[in-house]
Amino acid sequence: MPEDFEQLWSGLHPVGRSAASGGYFRQPFGTAERECHAWFVEQCALRGLRVEHDGNGNTIGWWEPELDAGLPVVLTGSHLDSVLDGGAYDGPLGLVSALAAIDLMRDRGVSPARALGVAVFAEEEGSRFGLACLGSRLAVGITRPDQAAALRDRDGVALPDAMATAGIEPALGRSTWLDRVGCYLELHVEQGRDLDLRDEPVGLASAIWPHGRYRFDFTGQANHAGTTAMGDRHDPMLTYAMTALAANKQARLAGARATFGRVDVGPNATNAVPSRVTGWLDARCETEEALSSLVAAIETQARERADRDGTLLELTAESVSPAVNFDVALTERLLALGSRPVIPTAAGHDAGVLSAAGIPTAMLFVRNPTGISHCPAESAGMSDCLAGVNALADALTELAR
Ligand code: GLV
Ligand code: MN
Ligand code: MN
Repeated sequence: MPEDFEQLWSGLHPVGRSAASGGYFRQPFGTAERECHAWFVEQCALRGLRVEHDGNGNTIGWWEPELDAGLPVVLTGSHLDSVLDGGAYDGPLGLVSALAAIDLMRDRGVSPARALGVAVFAEEEGSRFGLACLGSRLAVGITRPDQAAALRDRDGVALPDAMATAGIEPALGRSTWLDRVGCYLELHVEQGRDLDLRDEPVGLASAIWPHGRYRFDFTGQANHAGTTAMGDRHDPMLTYAMTALAANKQARLAGARATFGRVDVGPNATNAVPSRVTGWLDARCETEEALSSLVAAIETQARERADRDGTLLELTAESVSPAVNFDVALTERLLALGSRPVIPTAAGHDAGVLSAAGIPTAMLFVRNPTGISHCPAESAGMSDCLAGVNALADALTELAR
């Protein structure tokens, strides 16, 4: 089994990896992510799993019992896309572990009574089209096809066109294969140090913090950087800078998270006062009320500053994800297989989307010794990964009985 996992892992490892940073650029429907998909399909074929593609860019490998009684199916899975310059584990760990878990179950002579699916969800990170968990949101119907079809990437390419270029015939909308799903279990690298501090290799998730993405469009007056007196400027960069500081301060005060990690400046010239700055706020809090208050407090300070700078602010909530509490009965069933810490997370997952859609859902986390994630330094130890595969195989065996 260790050979299985390591071999699988090394097959995927170089795909989309930057030689300069060691990070991954596996943007949805791009060359590297498609190569990862092709790898997954090939691995399914090697295992005799039936592969199904839906019109949302999601792919599922099915292990079906010889005599399928049509029982609700067990789904596991994760994603193969990465953030820009992301880590190796966020997403792929869940899929490599799922394939290795199937191998392990077969080695153990397990024959599931119900079908078991391994799902690769498209655009989980929202790194290309801005909407995180796009594939699962479309699959469950939380995002409407017309909303998704209107999404554009940074080069102005529309989602259906990007899909078509990647050889996928877009048929956006609720995925019928989901109707068969009885429960979902996603394994993921932990994106914090909770397990490390507890000295535990594997844990279960209790909840996901509510979180959202908000676009702040600041507009000012473009002008000459040399000849415009400081007092005569309407500089949206200043309004943005104050807003970023305010977001940091408000999040600290609230025990929450607020990040401006993406900025777009126009015209983006060294010797010109900019005419516009767009900054994307990622905000996360323990409760939905706290999230609303946090964003409202940041907005208030941004508008006060805009008044002083003579700039304008337009604020758009691009996506807001409610709090997720994972299925207690399912989590307890998995705890009966072995005691583990049950911990919350402020990271978003397709598991959160499926849970919000009413599918009993649970998550397994594998220890991340540094807690670092969404960057090249993200890591997990091999023995912890193998512990994760074991935990997943045990769980899937129990759920597929
Ligand atoms: C996804 O990893 C997110 O939490 O943004
Ligand atoms: Mn991620
Ligand atoms: Mn992820």
